[in-house]
Amino acid sequence: MTTSERFSIADLFTESAKEAPQPMFGAAQQGHVPLISLAFGLADPALFPRAELAAAAAAVLADDAAAALNYGPTYPGLIEQIVTRLRQEGVEAEPENIIAGYGSSQILGLLPQVFVEPGDVVLIEGPSFMGAVRRFQDARANLVTIPVDEHGMNVDALEETLRNFAAQGVRPKFIYTIPTFHNPSGVTMPLERRQKLVALGAEYGVVIVEDDAYGDLRFEGDPLPNLAALDSEGWVMRVSTYSKTLAPGVRTGWAYANPEIIARLQKFKIEGGNSPFLTRVIARYSADGRYERHIEELVKLYRSKRDRMVAAIEREFPAGYTLVLPEGGFFIWLTLPEGVSATALLEHSKTKGAAFLPGTHCYANGQGDNEIRLSFSFQPADQLETGIARIGAAMHEILA
Ligand SMILES: Cc1ncc(COP(=O)(O)O)c(C=O)c1O
Repeated sequence: MTTSERFSIADLFTESAKEAPQPMFGAAQQGHVPLISLAFGLADPALFPRAELAAAAAAVLADDAAAALNYGPTYPGLIEQIVTRLRQEGVEAEPENIIAGYGSSQILGLLPQVFVEPGDVVLIEGPSFMGAVRRFQDARANLVTIPVDEHGMNVDALEETLRNFAAQGVRPKFIYTIPTFHNPSGVTMPLERRQKLVALGAEYGVVIVEDDAYGDLRFEGDPLPNLAALDSEGWVMRVSTYSKTLAPGVRTGWAYANPEIIARLQKFKIEGGNSPFLTRVIARYSADGRYERHIEELVKLYRSKRDRMVAAIEREFPAGYTLVLPEGGFFIWLTLPEGVSATALLEHSKTKGAAFLPGTHCYANGQGDNEIRLSFSFQPADQLETGIARIGAAMHEILA
């Protein structure tokens, strides 16, 4: 008898790892695809600040190699820059409120270790960022969906849910929300809803996790205060990233939160700080206002790509769809015409050489087969138009 006949490796796995592996989904796994994919929120390489990052890396290696290349903490100078930006936004931050992670994904992945025992209630928007949905599902949270409309999370529905749970003696662990340029729906929550959401967190003693991955990429309209700036009681945790405003490849995100939460996150981030080298490079690059100027360039580029995509949709798609024009971010979220299924449309679109993200990936409750997410961030503008034309043709054929 061989050892593999006596012992099964799978018996060693945790309950969540035992589930059949699902196809990898997400920008990080995309690699090369032979079709025009509008599925993922990759950054546009046209504006990567290659020369400036190379200069910043060379300067760090010239001046500070001993610290940059050894084990060590996240560069305190980068934490200071994050604190300064937060204060400019009205958040009373100190370095002890901040943790850096390998992308905000790492921090979202650590959250359940801090807060979630299997079965604990976590409130999540429907739709939401599929990476977060997956992480919280893997932790066996009891994910309860709060609907999103054209003004973001429906905070009246949230209030009713919180009230019902309180009546049963249940205190949800956290509320995960993307209030600005929501992924995937693109919508932004107005001030009154933000205020009510923050007040509800304090009233029910539930942490609000504000994911602000896209907040700096505003194409039009006045900036709104972030949830952390509206919070005087310490229930809001704010998660953000350099992925959308500098480059996803630097894999650097951060969170602001009550120091008690930061200490627990740090406890589970067993490798310690974030790359002493890369955090110095980012800080050096950002030191003299270049980061802010770069964001202005990104806004111009992504705004024009959004406009090209919307114009192509108006030209190519059959009547009967609806969309809310996003004021920033990477995505257009579209409700399909009656009778068109997102999964069927994806299969048909692929045969024509185009892909998108079906809405079903963005819900914790199986909803979303009448919705799709189209990303305008990555493909060059002419490819965006070709991709939309192919998806539009597939839609026309399904309806015919
Ligand atoms: C809403 C949201 N949060 C977090 C992330 C993760 O970004 P990263 O891990 O690159 O910081 C993404 C990336 O797509 C996102 O859309």
